Amino acid sequence: METKIYDKLHVAIIMDGNGRWAEARGLPRSAGHRAGAHSVARVVEASAKQGIAALTLYAFSSDNWQRPATEVSTLFGLFDRYLRTQVKALAGNGIRLSVIGRRDRLATSLLNSITRAERETAGGKGLHLRIAIDYSSRHEMARALQARTARGDMHDPLGTHDVDLLIRTGGEQRLSDFMLWECAYAELLFTPVQWPDFDETALASALRAFSSRQRRFGGLASTAA
Ligand code: IPE
Ligand code: IPE
Ligand code: MG
Repeated sequence: METKIYDKLHVAIIMDGNGRWAEARGLPRSAGHRAGAHSVARVVEASAKQGIAALTLYAFSSDNWQRPATEVSTLFGLFDRYLRTQVKALAGNGIRLSVIGRRDRLATSLLNSITRAERETAGGKGLHLRIAIDYSSRHEMARALQARTARGDMHDPLGTHDVDLLIRTGGEQRLSDFMLWECAYAELLFTPVQWPDFDETALASALRAFSSRQRRFGGLASTAA
């Protein structure tokens, strides 16, 4: 199934609904986050198979620091474990991993796992997987603006690519400070499916929905016959 349909596509996902998934099953929120981590592995694999160029996953927002310390530490434990256990498989599948967001508030052990995973997957020619941790779009934009002013450089202040398709699971219809700049012309897709239940079939159906959208970028509909 080596399709070339999606090889320019940048998909971004707000992975929401872990807590509600767990609560609906009478489980602690941490169980939802563990199930969510499995979903990440599954969706990354499915994205690589679909031939998507880039996948950006919102794993932890800068506002998520407001959650109870135990939940925050569960989440950071899962990120660290994901990076350490998946790095070989990612590299083997030609997936290049980058972590975006602030690094100045992360634990040294996690920073080490991040640098190692980025180094060991740096040669990947397939999917570019970007994981957003301690990420705030407003903070990124403010920082880019400062750097730009310092350099006097007007070109591509965030040095990044536009999002083509933004998916939010969990039923909320908001961006929660995620990729505000990059989503200028993104197609938005909100699904009630909770993140732990989002699988390859859900991804395939999101991609089909995207394909049927007509993007105009402010111009007129293409009339090419
Ligand atoms: C998304 O699930 C994971 C993170 C925000 C880190 P939530 O934990 O927000 O789950 P809900 O929204 O409470 O169901
Ligand atoms: C957004 O989800 C952040 C991530 C999915 C990592 P939240 O659950 O934090 O967003 P709000 O609070 O519902 O806006
Ligand atoms: Mg949430």
